[in-house]
Amino acid sequence: MNTQKKFVIKGGRVLNGEVEISGAKNAVVAILPAAILADEPCIIENVPDISDVDISIRILRELGAKVTYLGPHTYEIDARGVNSSCVPYESARKMRASYYFMGALLGRFKHCRVSMPGGCPLGDRPIDQHLKAFKKLGADTKVDRGMVDITTANGLHGAQIFFDCVTVGATMNAILAAVKADGLTIIENAAKEPHIVDLASFLNSMGAEIMGAGTDTIKIRGVKYLRGTSYAVIPDQIEAGTYMVAAAATGGNVLIKNVIPKHLESIISVMEKIGVKIEQFDDSVRVSVDGPLVKTSVKTRPHPGFPTDMQPQISALLCLAEGTSMIKEGVSEQRFQYVDELRRMGADIQVDGKVAVIEGTGKLTGAPVKACDLRAGAALMIAGLAASGVTTIEDIFHIERGYSDMAGKLRALGACIEKVTVVQKETGTQQDAV
Ligand code: EPU
Repeated sequence: MNTQKKFVIKGGRVLNGEVEISGAKNAVVAILPAAILADEPCIIENVPDISDVDISIRILRELGAKVTYLGPHTYEIDARGVNSSCVPYESARKMRASYYFMGALLGRFKHCRVSMPGGCPLGDRPIDQHLKAFKKLGADTKVDRGMVDITTANGLHGAQIFFDCVTVGATMNAILAAVKADGLTIIENAAKEPHIVDLASFLNSMGAEIMGAGTDTIKIRGVKYLRGTSYAVIPDQIEAGTYMVAAAATGGNVLIKNVIPKHLESIISVMEKIGVKIEQFDDSVRVSVDGPLVKTSVKTRPHPGFPTDMQPQISALLCLAEGTSMIKEGVSEQRFQYVDELRRMGADIQVDGKVAVIEGTGKLTGAPVKACDLRAGAALMIAGLAASGVTTIEDIFHIERGYSDMAGKLRALGACIEKVTVVQKETGTQQDAV
């Protein structure tokens, strides 16, 4: 007997009220492995309830770390007992960010064996730049039957690392590996995302010497010892953007709390062009709509540009706007797989390579659809909320990788959404609400 979870949304409800944003997925999935580098226990706060965190914690425990739940969103990680530097396929395949165990284990043990990562199917996602950084720091790397073997003859030493493309993952991995290497490391053409600054701030709070995170040149002076710390993860910029778009798509009025407005600048700018009203406060933004939504052109770029992780959600919004909009994908290889699903809901979108042209129809209709990756799932949630009729979304495990209790948060804003478990029997199917 197979079970599958789905979201069932009765669309057309206007979202109103307040929503609290959780800690950032793409920061916490690097900060949790980074705790392996600490020589004393660390307390990490504002940890989101998402399955990528569950997987990271499971891997930490498998490696020998003691992970203690201290209360809502707070864990203590004591990595002094970590006695393995191997992350097998079964653990790593479930999420892309398992690659951060390479940098963290290499930084601590000067060798590691970690499976090639899994994660969202967004096209070819090589890790050549990660391996280039490890090699520059003095490691040998070998990929053998899906496992990456990283060894060093004489430990790790500071180096000049120039990335051939701007990459979040390789920048974070280079920081993790270099933080306890001998001497000075200089990373050039580094990614500048808020989660990179957050990882550096976490490590610096333990005594690391990382300078320039958030710019394209990061300098790291290696240290021998990292003390314990208590650190709160930054709010999730993409979760915030997703609720901002959901509010706008339903013509609602929502206060999005626990955000850093500076991290939302490019999202705010695009949404304002579409005609959405956004008021900014110290740690919240209010989204409302008091006129028609209009077409625009968007190109995704590395930070501080418009994030690729918001591209599917903004496309869903543009389906509801008047006129012809254009989306250019400037970061990911394949990020338009969700388009077929939106078409099932009445969207008029043509894709040619990395460009999508959206004819705003002003409306969407509910349909059965499938989340093909995390942000595609978020876009379908938004489309379902705005559509007339019922939308059922399958494969919601993608959504649960990165969104903390999305159905609960949306229900609190007035959405009509249920998570149902479908029990598939040999003779048919049966649904139970959970
Ligand atoms: N790239 C290479 N070689 C590498 C690494 C990257 O060619 O060694 C290329 C990629 O193929 C891609 C571009 O560089 O075309 C950017 O990739 P990046 O390394 O920045 O992405 P990532 O680290 O694999 C992270 C996020 C993604 C997000 C991207 C871009 C995590 C765990 N993942 O992925 O998040 O889309 O940065 O901002 O931080 C998501 O949250 O939904 C998600 C997919």
